Amino acid sequence: MKTIKIAIDGPAGAGKSTISKIVSKKLNYIYIDTGAMYRAVALYAIRKGVNTKNADEVSDVLDEIDINIDYKNDAQQIFLNGENVSDMIRTPEVSVGASDVAVITNVRLKLVELQRKLAETKNVIMDGRDIGTYVLPNADVKIFLTATCDERARRRYEELLQKGVNCTFDEVKSDMQYRDKNDSEREFAPLKAADDAVVVDTTGFSQDESVKLITETINKRLGK
Ligand code: CDP
Repeated sequence: MKTIKIAIDGPAGAGKSTISKIVSKKLNYIYIDTGAMYRAVALYAIRKGVNTKNADEVSDVLDEIDINIDYKNDAQQIFLNGENVSDMIRTPEVSVGASDVAVITNVRLKLVELQRKLAETKNVIMDGRDIGTYVLPNADVKIFLTATCDERARRRYEELLQKGVNCTFDEVKSDMQYRDKNDSEREFAPLKAADDAVVVDTTGFSQDESVKLITETINKRLGK
């Protein structure tokens, strides 16, 4: 059976995961958050005392890492060697570590294999940085979501405060700038819009407005 694949890429805080979750529920598709996989690798490295910037050190422990996803009440849960780490991977330290390990080609090859497998059997909305350009180049719909850096940092800051994470707006913004640069400038599968992606800037849009726009874009591309 041919499955339908929707790729949603963009920088941190553009609203990819929030919007993808809602839209996938509406369409009855599986939502796959690929960032969680890079975060799980970073968490493993941090716990082991491995330098997340060192490609050799991280590559050496890759075989010790088994990543799986499952769903609980429609929400993706991520398992690192059998342990549910879905909450632990959301800290600022893991965010930066994820961006560092994501530069390492061996890490990407391992995770991309899992991502492609997951998209083979079910209709999916997959969000990340390189889904439309590298992971699923034949995706039926490709969307590149973006917003200004200030707006993205503000959204992420509010999200972290709600979760009780202790941080300042300036810290969140500078982490985001670090990751944007790291993600866009890496050699292998960098963050960029695919040539055939629809670019959507959500600056100044409410969540409802963004969801409506993305749903319309998907339906139009799917000829519905
Ligand atoms: O949620 P947020 O946008 O902050 O980040 P994320 O999607 O959870 O991704 C965390 C990090 O993983 C990003 O900063 C990227 O460096 C990396 N990543 C990637 O390189 N490729 C992907 N397909 C997904 C995430």
